[in-house]
Amino acid sequence: MNIPFDPVFDQIPEPYATRAAAQLHALQSHSQGPPAYSVDQRGLPVPVWVRRGLPDEAGRAWEVLQTELHTAPRERPLCIYLHVPFCDSHCEFCDCYAFALRRHRERHTQSYTAHLCTEIGLWAGQVPLSRRPVTSIHFGGGTPTTLGWANLERLVGVLGAHFSVGPQTEWALETTSSSLDEEAFARLHALGFRRLHIGVQSLQDEVRQAIGRREPGAAALQKIERARGLGWIVSVDVITGLPGQTPAGLLDDLDRLVASGAEGFSIYELQHSSHNHRFFESHNLLSQPVLRRYLLFQLAFQHLEAQGYTKNVFNHLARGRDRNLYFTFPQRGEDLLAIGTISDGVFGNYHYRHPEYWDYTRQVSPHDPGLLGGLRRTPQEDRLHRIEVQLMSGHVDPHTLGEILGEDQATALLRKWLKHHMVAASPHGDGLALTTNGAWFIGQLLQEAIHCSSSTRPPGWTRLQE
Ligand SMILES: C[S@@+](CC[C@H](N)C(=O)[O-])C[C@H]1O[C@@H](n2cnc3c(N)ncnc32)[C@H](O)[C@@H]1O
Ligand code: SF4
Repeated sequence: MNIPFDPVFDQIPEPYATRAAAQLHALQSHSQGPPAYSVDQRGLPVPVWVRRGLPDEAGRAWEVLQTELHTAPRERPLCIYLHVPFCDSHCEFCDCYAFALRRHRERHTQSYTAHLCTEIGLWAGQVPLSRRPVTSIHFGGGTPTTLGWANLERLVGVLGAHFSVGPQTEWALETTSSSLDEEAFARLHALGFRRLHIGVQSLQDEVRQAIGRREPGAAALQKIERARGLGWIVSVDVITGLPGQTPAGLLDDLDRLVASGAEGFSIYELQHSSHNHRFFESHNLLSQPVLRRYLLFQLAFQHLEAQGYTKNVFNHLARGRDRNLYFTFPQRGEDLLAIGTISDGVFGNYHYRHPEYWDYTRQVSPHDPGLLGGLRRTPQEDRLHRIEVQLMSGHVDPHTLGEILGEDQATALLRKWLKHHMVAASPHGDGLALTTNGAWFIGQLLQEAIHCSSSTRPPGWTRLQE
């Protein structure tokens, strides 16, 4: 059998080593020859606006959106996302759109908050929108607490005053554990936040040092316990493939996080980009086999699934009260109002995006929400969107696939996915569930669905008929 080997394999305990080998084995087409799916070619989902750009320029996008907002069903709920691109310092491993504020911190945080309030006011002026029920308000980043308490209070106040926010609305915030002190807990609680996404990454102190986390893992755990003590839902971000990370260390992290009461886990595989190239170079990660990251990714999913966590997004495992409301908005057919630099939102089948920081802050005005542009999904993209939403949710309904792709294409595609263990019978007896292989190859699965539905078949198409 042509299964590649990595020394990390020997460090994975049973039953996970056997399961990881089986998942890897399932990627093979035949006993000889190249695998049907190569772990080196992991692809993440690509939004529609990346696939074909934003044909509508900013002014046109805003015109279309205003019409859209007035014709959309008034009872359709929405989620609100607000992007804060600031952090106290910049972590070398990070590939997010965020930058450290040092000099002129006050000026940037105040002026950015003012721009956000201007944009919020403009959206809120669209009366049907402001009356629609809000499911979740999610402050992402970056590290939103970098704005400072007065600015955060102002934003929460403006959102609360302008939108139909009520007891049903979950207020959530992304943060580092080191930004959470007693004052932060008290202020956030008073502001109504009840959900935290904490970027733990790893609890192992050697790994934390390598990635520049300032406080020890034990301190991060205490913060999670503190938040749980306040009754909040805690979701943690864990990265696989960090320098010095071992299977034993990763399992220990997951066990301690589960014991601390974390109800959600977002598992990321360390991504290389132009933002963190120096970090990859200095930790010799450029030559690290991707297989190692795949094995650690497998291990994390299998261990959490064994503790009763289930996927509600392809890379997010949840149990208890964690409904991951913001990330699952498309599954409920809700709209997303996105506010702030680089954020992208969607109303019905119209997508829009904001530009980077400098352009955003130059552009926003009482008449202009500071957009980059927009696009409406075509009827074919609409159909694919339904498949995309299912795959991203970790659950695939064969009937929907048949309806959209036609029975023959859907059967061929599902056979391939079953053969290579991308999907498996759902333990709840309702269709097919995405496996860990499926979570790793999510981008390829979406590509295959696109190719299946398009009239021109890609060169590798016959492979789908295997
Ligand atoms: C927008 S960041 C905000 C997190 C928060 N500021 C913190 O540092 O804890 C969300 C998550 O993206 C993930 N992330 C950042 N850089 C990454 C990279 N290069 N590869 C994979 N995941 C990454 C991390 O798990 C991080 O917690
Ligand atoms: S990991 Fe978090 S704190 Fe670090 S730069 Fe990225 S967003 Fe900022």
